[in-house]
This record gives sequence, C-alpha cells and structure tokens, in this order.
Amino acid sequence: QKGAYPHYMLKEIDEQPGVMRTLVQEYFDASGNVKIDQDLLDTLGQADRLYIVAAGTSYHAGLVGKELFEKLAGIPTEVHVASEFAYNPPLLSKRPFFIFLTQSGETADSRQVLTQVNEWGYPSLTITNVPNSTLSREASYTLLLHAGPEIAVASTKAYTAQIALEAILVKAYGEAKGIQKVKDFDVASELTKVANGMQELVDEKHNVEQIAKEMLSTTRNAFYIGRGVDYALAQEAALKLKEVSYVQTEGFASGELKHGTIALIEEGTPVVAIITDPKTAAHTRSNAQEVLARGANVLFIASRDLATDNDQIVLPEVDPLLSPLVSVVPTQLLAYYTSIQRGYDVDKPRNLAKSVTVE
Ligand code: F6R
Repeated sequence: QKGAYPHYMLKEIDEQPGVMRTLVQEYFDASGNVKIDQDLLDTLGQADRLYIVAAGTSYHAGLVGKELFEKLAGIPTEVHVASEFAYNPPLLSKRPFFIFLTQSGETADSRQVLTQVNEWGYPSLTITNVPNSTLSREASYTLLLHAGPEIAVASTKAYTAQIALEAILVKAYGEAKGIQKVKDFDVASELTKVANGMQELVDEKHNVEQIAKEMLSTTRNAFYIGRGVDYALAQEAALKLKEVSYVQTEGFASGELKHGTIALIEEGTPVVAIITDPKTAAHTRSNAQEVLARGANVLFIASRDLATDNDQIVLPEVDPLLSPLVSVVPTQLLAYYTSIQRGYDVDKPRNLAKSVTVE
C-alpha cells in the first residue's frame, strides 16, 4: 500500500533510512557482532577471488561492493553483467566464490549464470529481497535484504540495501579473517550514521524538486560524472534518470570526458558532478570546470567536508566507501521529480517490467 504517497517510487525512496536500521537489527547482535551463518563464512573464507554477477541497478550495487571487498578486506573481486558472463565467462581463479545480487531473485540472465556455476560445482551466495525466489533456492547460500516489497519498477531501496548488506558481509568476512582494517570499520554505527544522513536528504526533497524543474524538466540529455565510487554512483544515477524520464543520460568517469564525450557538451547541457572522495575531489572539480567552460549547466553534489559555498546539494558526512548510500538519494529524487514533471507514469515506465524473466 502506498498510503499517503502519490507513488511507490517516492515511498520507497523515503523508506531507505528505515531499511538501513532494519539491516543493522537483523545482522548484528546486542554486543555488536555480525550474525551470518558460519558455514557461509567458512566457504567464503576459502575463496581466492569473488565474482559478483548481476544486472542493471543490482550490477551497479555490485560495483560498489567490489570497492568494499577490495579496499577493506583485500580480496580480489570482479563484477560482471550477467547477460555477458553467460556467453563470455572470464577466466576463473582456482577457488572462485560467486555472489548473485538480485532484488527479485528471478532475473533470467543471472539465473542462467547460476545454473552454469552449479554445473561447475562452485559455491554461491544469492543476496535478494525475496525469500524462496528461484536464485535463492538454487544458490548454496542466501542473505535477505529485508527491504520490504519494492513495487516501483525503478529500483531504489533494494540498491541501498544491497550495498549495506555487502558492507555487512565484508565485516563478517574480515572479522573471521582477523583483518585489521575491517576490525576498525564499525559497520553497524556507520550504517546508523547513513540512516540519519538519508533522513536529512529525504527531508529536503523539495529542494531537489526545484532543481529538477530548473535543470532537467525539458532537457534532451544529461550526464553524471564522478571518479571511483562516485563513478559507480554516476552509472546508477544515469540509469535511474533515463528509465523513468526517458532523458538520454550517461554516467561517466569524469576523467574520461575529455577523451570524446565532452564533444556532446553545449550551452545548457545538464551535468551532475558527484564529489564524495577526498582523493579525487579536486580532479572531478577540474573536470567540471572544463564542461562549465563549454556552457554546461553543472549541478554539484558534494560531501559536507568537501563542499564549497556554490555546491547546490551538500551530503551528510559518512565513510567515503559508503558514500553511494547517501549520494544516491538526491539522484533518485531527481529522477522521480523529472518523470513527474514530464507527466510520465513514474512507477511503471514504458517497455520495462519489474522482474525480467526472459533472457
Ligand atoms: C532498474 C532496475 C533494473 C534491475 C535489473 C535486475 O531500476 O530495477 O535494472 O535492477 O533488472 O533486477 P534484479 O535485481 O531483480 O535481478
């Protein structure tokens, strides 16, 4: 039931702080230890490389997961688009472990890969929102997102739940392995910080509504740019905007613009720069200057500690590795309001289905 909300998408965006809190409750005990099946952790602990397989928004959550697994726990991690992996699998390591990210648990492209993985006899984990879904039944292990039903076709709270649960899994994995960096990373309190930050952002949604009106309501194209996790976020932000508003949108590594795409920038082209990583903030700002100089209409979304007085959207501070959990919120709202302002059916965009059960 969408209750007082005009659309499911808006309701589901608003539910995200609660989803973060639920995940903390579900996966941490009273003394702050992670509660994840020991057998899963033992099997995961034997892997020499992780292979995350997913589609669409879930793939984008996997891109953030790779950063978490590699930067915190030091385990090599690859992320693959399921429909590509199915016909062009990469060379596998000796002891691979597969992680399927899928909100619905029914995506045919991902399922096809899991069937192959089972034939090969490798261990697998499905991270899904739907208990007893096909990918959950067919994988060796399952972890649930506990996000509540996601009805809008465009995925929002499942994306943030997937990233949060990846962080929780890294925590359990790294604790079991005694990895100091992971021990120092207090995921439960970081996720609580994230929940508070998300709340601040959804409370300021009317600011984003106004920006959407001025910047995106009549445009034909748009760009999101960033580096590192901000690039991963840019790809998700672009997918969200294009699928509900039909604006042609690309998510770009900001340093790549000058290698071709900058040719598309003209007077008034909307470019959204995402800046949450202290290592690359100055570089992304200088890329933004390059498009500004060519007439682009630039919206800066920056973390509070990196923000300048001219940045229109300032994000509450969270650990830089978890920043997509907060930076995604204004981009979801931009997509939502742009769709509404253009008069589209935001919960049911044309040509799309909630779960894609064909190859
Ligand atoms: C975009 C969207 C899709 C899904 C994709 C995978 O908003 O919802 O890109 O993320 O179809 O679906 P699941 O996660 O159910 O496997």
